[in-house]
Amino acid sequence: MRSEMERDILKVLVTEEELKARVAEMGVELYEKFEGKNPLFLGVLKGSFVFVADLVRACQLKSDIEFIAVSSYANATSSSGRVKINYDLQQDITGRHLIIVEDILDSGNTLAFLKEYFMTKGAASITIVTLLDKPSRRQKAVYPDLAGFEVPDEFVVGYGLDYAQQYRNVPYIGVLKPEVYSHK
Ligand code: PRP
Repeated sequence: MRSEMERDILKVLVTEEELKARVAEMGVELYEKFEGKNPLFLGVLKGSFVFVADLVRACQLKSDIEFIAVSSYANATSSSGRVKINYDLQQDITGRHLIIVEDILDSGNTLAFLKEYFMTKGAASITIVTLLDKPSRRQKAVYPDLAGFEVPDEFVVGYGLDYAQQYRNVPYIGVLKPEVYSHK
């Protein structure tokens, strides 16, 4: 039986198996890059929470984990260009090697803002890791150092990504049926 959420999904873009395999590879790549450097994983909430949980377990580095919560979309399907911090860093990041973990890099507005913000807070280095990269929509010159999958310009949900705060618990990356968001 398909769940009530699954009935709103047009198609699966990245399966659970593909996610698992790619996240494992990304974990190994980060391990090799940061071994001995005690990096700080910095998850950008809310969307990254599922990816962060899987990525840090795929990467057995001595490291700690911090979060920041920002928003820019306010229940719409395109970026407003404004970024607001809803929950700020809880520790000093001076001299730390940051691994920023995002679920999706879209217009680049969020990461352009955060990169600047973390530099002013004294980070030693910033590495951008995103599960999904949607380069066709980029407005700012921000590029991932490590990306899981490149995705087309479709409205994707699941594995942490939402539409109007829902569908984050869909276990794969799916494309939402247009009628779901065109009714709002
Ligand atoms: C999403 C996503 C990124 C941002 C990427 O967050 O998690 O943080 O948009 O888009 P951009 O490259 O166009 O800035 P959103 O603001 O939807 O909040 P959420 O993480 O709480 O879902």
